[in-house]
Amino acid sequence: MEKPEILKIKQRFGIIGNTESLSRAIDIAMQVAPTDLSVLITGESGVGKEVMPQIIHQFSARKHGTYIAVNCGAIPEGTIDSELFGHEKGSFTGAYESRKGYFEVANGGTIFLDEVAELPLSTQVRLLRVLETGEFIRVGSSKVIKTNVRVIAATNVDVPSAIQHGKFREDLYYRLNSVPIGIPPLRHRKEDIPLLLRKFAVDFAERNRMPAINLTEDATQMLMNYRWPGNIRQLKNIAEQISILEEKRLITSEVLRTYLPDHFDTKLPALYEGIDQKTFATEREILYKVLFDMRNDMNELKKLVHENLQKSPVESDHHQQAPHVIPKYVHDVEPILSDEKPMRKFDITRDTLEDIQDTQEITEESLSLSDKEIEMIRKALEKHNGKRKHAAGELGISERTLYRKIKEYNIE
Ligand SMILES: Nc1ncnc2c1ncn2[C@@H]1O[C@H](COP(=O)(O)OP(=O)(O)O)[C@@H](O)[C@H]1O
Ligand SMILES: [Mg+2]
Repeated sequence: MEKPEILKIKQRFGIIGNTESLSRAIDIAMQVAPTDLSVLITGESGVGKEVMPQIIHQFSARKHGTYIAVNCGAIPEGTIDSELFGHEKGSFTGAYESRKGYFEVANGGTIFLDEVAELPLSTQVRLLRVLETGEFIRVGSSKVIKTNVRVIAATNVDVPSAIQHGKFREDLYYRLNSVPIGIPPLRHRKEDIPLLLRKFAVDFAERNRMPAINLTEDATQMLMNYRWPGNIRQLKNIAEQISILEEKRLITSEVLRTYLPDHFDTKLPALYEGIDQKTFATEREILYKVLFDMRNDMNELKKLVHENLQKSPVESDHHQQAPHVIPKYVHDVEPILSDEKPMRKFDITRDTLEDIQDTQEITEESLSLSDKEIEMIRKALEKHNGKRKHAAGELGISERTLYRKIKEYNIE
């Protein structure tokens, strides 16, 4: 029997799953929470590490203090020291003002260092010092500053091996790893897989006002036997992709198969590996929603045109009627999303109405996933000033995949 307090935490933090190893991880988090010990959370990418530091912070005496989550892998090497420890005015080109770092801002609170193994060695030295003495120095300063911050770190890297390769300081590892919490991969939590799928399908359906998908018995079996290299994050993305791309709501194993392993690269944009950025996830969702709305609109439009043609066999009649019908329709299908991103209205005139017989082509063009993929890659590259490593990170794909796609699509 599960401890009632663990059940409560699962409910409060939206954690799905009944596997013993998951409950044990939550149990350790609760026990260590009231202490000031550092915690290292390990587990493959996408297993759900990020909720643990929140639990620990919320159940500690620091819960009213500041909580800062830092994705160490997403900050460029050149600015990470300044981000974490602050800098003095004029300490480097562009440092027009002095600035507090996270360790200063989070005084009395908690810092979550996600992807901690990505920290450069020089930053690891500074981190070790602040962990051991509570002291640090802003970049370009010589004044020692004191802070009282609880550090929780996470990584999907095999740290002992990183130590062997000279990428991670051993002393820092022992200091961080006062209490280790390991989150099991999804393939070791098979019985949780259908529960998770259900949750993601229902959540997505509610958010996007559409009916939720269901899996047939054999599809569920297939889902449970899949390896899930991207763990829960991958499962979530696949649940959402199926929700949006499949018209039928009952998903068979034949359909499901096309969303799993190898088929992935050819059929869909590879968005499953590691999306951490909330903003990006939201954009993706808007995109899905727009695609879904567009498909529905096109179907309705086809139906409408078809009906109209049936009703008025005489050509000229149909031309006279349509303009009255269509504008009303256009009004009806105004996208619900209008407050987020104004979608272009369907601008239907007599001329375009004649073209509309060719709906198949229109549908295919506007729903092209590769176009959307190119657009997203461009956006990510722009945002990161062409830095492929960071763009790939944001897109949740490996640098190699990004490189391949850039070549494939001939993106500048
Ligand atoms: N047990 C769970 N129940 C429900 N959602 C989960 C669970 N574990 C992870 N998730 C979701 O899966 C995604 C990946 O989790 P995250 O914590 O970002 O993984 P990582 O271990 O890579 O940091 C997130 O959207 C998270 O909300
Ligand atoms: Mg993470």
